[in-house]
Amino acid sequence: MSYPFYQAVKAEFIAVNKLIEESLSSHVPLVEEIASYLINAGGKRLRPLLVLLSARACDYQGNDHIKLAVIIEFLHTAMLLHDDVVDTSELRRGRKTANAQWGNAASVLVGDFLHSRAFEMMVEIGDMKIMSLLSKATNGIAEGEVQQLSNLKNSEITETAYREVIYRKTAMLFEVAAHTGAVLAAADSKKQQALCQLGSDLGIAFQLMDDLLDYEGSTSDLGKNVGDDLAEGKVTLPLIVALRNGSEPQRILIKRAIASGDSTEMAAILEAVRDTGGISYTLAQAEQAKDSALHNLEQIKPSAYRQAINDLVLFSVNRQN
Ligand code: IPE
Ligand code: IPE
Ligand code: MG
Ligand code: MG
Repeated sequence: MSYPFYQAVKAEFIAVNKLIEESLSSHVPLVEEIASYLINAGGKRLRPLLVLLSARACDYQGNDHIKLAVIIEFLHTAMLLHDDVVDTSELRRGRKTANAQWGNAASVLVGDFLHSRAFEMMVEIGDMKIMSLLSKATNGIAEGEVQQLSNLKNSEITETAYREVIYRKTAMLFEVAAHTGAVLAAADSKKQQALCQLGSDLGIAFQLMDDLLDYEGSTSDLGKNVGDDLAEGKVTLPLIVALRNGSEPQRILIKRAIASGDSTEMAAILEAVRDTGGISYTLAQAEQAKDSALHNLEQIKPSAYRQAINDLVLFSVNRQN
């Protein structure tokens, strides 16, 4: 990874990648084939990085943060396998999605494998508080994805309801990554709370930008297709704002596209999203979440690890990929 914020935990990050490889082993060749396909395609590994940095910023001296980081990446990857099935996505990390390559059934089942492997590894760490936080988070994420499904094609969706979904489906995993890193380090409760809130804000900023980039980003940078959200009737903040502020003709145009999933009028919709402040408002919300995250970071004593967390938070709003 070329971003400087990986440098503070370079050796540990290599250990995480090694343990990922080792932990993928299965008696069933197809499991390994599909899991390795997605995992070896790369991915930014931001969540495991946050685990390592959070633990080390709180002076952790042991080795279990490596395993905890792998657990979080496995949970994330399992979620992506399932997410691409429900979103009928065809491109991920610059490659065909597993569902496009092997079908939905195999993707769902290998997602289950990664999910349960993560739980096996949690038991190996054997810390009840960490297990409790991780199981609550995975349960909340599952709820978030179902909640999003219930909201599909609903052009009346409010910003509050949208926020609930992105908190659950995305921010909870960043939150638990930062929080459990601090718990592992036996940090005092003030530091644990600060990192927990930081993770949540970082996750919110990250998903707001993901939803913005689905309109404004480039497929080659992102390694996934832009425009997918509208095509599948997923009403995200840029669109909510356009529906809120748009003229009657703009609202009609957008509602029609949400209902039909037809992206032929994408150019006009993008123009409406921009004109009505959908992009700038989403960006401003992401900036606000970033500022809140940085404010919480002040509770942590200065170090190279804290600096790397700072840079990771900034990346969440400046990113193109
Ligand atoms: C994708 O997350 C899913 C979202 C929460 C938007 P990432 O953008 O971190 O995915 P990878 O792991 O780098 O591919
Ligand atoms: C995040 O939502 C999905 C997960 C939490 C797994 P998206 O559906 O927007 O993520 P991408 O855009 O497919 O990566
Ligand atoms: Mg998706
Ligand atoms: Mg997305």
